[in-house]
Amino acid sequence: MKILITGISGMLGVDLYRVLRGESHKAPKVLRDKYEIVGLDTKDFPFPSPLREEGSGEGEDESPSPPIHKVDITDFKAIKELFSQLIPDFVIHTAAYTDVDGCEKNPDKAHKINAAGAQNVALLCWKLDIPLMYISTDFVFGGESKVPYAEFDEPCPINVYGKSKLAGEEYVKSLLDKFFIIRTSWLYGRWGKNFVETILKLAREKSELKVVRNQVGSPTYTLDLSQQIKKLLLAYEEQKSALYGIYHITNSGSCSWYEFTQEILRLADIKDVKVVPITSKELARPAARPQFSVLNNYRLKRKLGSSMRQWKEALKDYLKKE
Ligand SMILES: NC(=O)c1ccc[n+]([C@@H]2O[C@H](COP(=O)([O-])OP(=O)(O)OC[C@H]3O[C@@H](n4cnc5c(N)ncnc54)[C@H](OP(=O)(O)O)[C@@H]3O)[C@@H](O)[C@H]2O)c1
Repeated sequence: MKILITGISGMLGVDLYRVLRGESHKAPKVLRDKYEIVGLDTKDFPFPSPLREEGSGEGEDESPSPPIHKVDITDFKAIKELFSQLIPDFVIHTAAYTDVDGCEKNPDKAHKINAAGAQNVALLCWKLDIPLMYISTDFVFGGESKVPYAEFDEPCPINVYGKSKLAGEEYVKSLLDKFFIIRTSWLYGRWGKNFVETILKLAREKSELKVVRNQVGSPTYTLDLSQQIKKLLLAYEEQKSALYGIYHITNSGSCSWYEFTQEILRLADIKDVKVVPITSKELARPAARPQFSVLNNYRLKRKLGSSMRQWKEALKDYLKKE
C-alpha cells in the first residue's frame, strides 16, 4: 500500500512515518516494507533520520528517510500534478497551520491552509478515488460540556484554529465517502515544539511557573497516536468500508495544564520550581481555548475494541525518550 503523508516533517508526521515503517531498523524487513511511504511538506524531514539514529547496521537500511515532495497544499495545481504522478493508495493529511494564537492573528492564512488546503487534498482524493484520513482536533468543540465529547456530538469551535479545522472536516465529509477523521488533543512528541519541552526549558530558567488551571484536556503522545492509527489501518485492510467515519484518539484520562505541568516536573525530578495555578483570563492569550475538551474514544473501543493507555504512562515513556 502506497501511503502519502502530508505534513510528514511535522511532530506527528515523523512519528507516523516511523511507526508505519516498522518503528526501527530492528523490525523485520517484511514489516518495514509493508507500506511504501511518500511524504509531502513545505520543509525538510528532520535529520538525523530517526531510523539511522537508532543505529541501523551498514547497508541494512540505506535510505531510511522518506522521499519528500516539497509542495504547498494550498497550491492546487502543484498537488494535482503530484497526486497524478504518485497515485497513492491512501492519504493521511496531517499538514496544518497549528499555531493556535497565530491562527487568531492571521485568520486568512488559517483558512487557506487548514480549510482550503484540506479541500484541495479531499478534491484530489475524490477525483482519484483514494481513501483519506484527515487529522483534526479537540478544538472543534466549545468546551461547555461536563462530560467527554463523543464523535457524534455537535462541534462548536470558539477560535479561528478550531473553525478552520472544522471547515476542513466539512470538506472531507461532503466530498468523500471513503474517509476517516481522527480528532486528537494536546499533542507532544519528539519531533516538534511542544508543551512538555517548553515546561522543561522554563523550569531550567525560572524558579516559578504560572500555568492555567481552568482548561482540561487529554495530553497525547504522538507515538501512541501513530500506533493506534496503524492498528486502524491494519483493521481497515480487512474490514474496509465498515470502519470509515470519525474517531477520537487520545491518551486516556485528563488533567488541566497546571496538573500536566506538575506531573512533568515530578517525572523529571525537578523539585525546586514552584508551579502557580492561574486562570486563562489572567494569561490573556489571543485565542480563546475550550475550558474542557476531553474526547470520549467511543468508536475506537466499539469498532476496534481498542483503547489508549493513560496519559501519565505515556508521558513517563516520552520523558525516558523511548
Ligand atoms: N499539536 C497539537 O497539539 C494538535 C492537537 C490536536 C490536533 N492536531 C492536529 O494534528 C496534525 C499534526 O499536528 P502537529 O502538531 O504534528 O503539527 P506540526 O508539527 O505543525 O506539523 C505540520 C506540518 O505541516 C507542514 N505544513 C504547514 N503548512 C503546510 C502547507 N501549506 N503545505 C504543506 N505542508 C504544510 C508544517 O510545516 P511548517 O512547520 O514549515 O509550517 C509541518 O511540517 C494537524 O493537523 C493538527 O491540526 C495537533
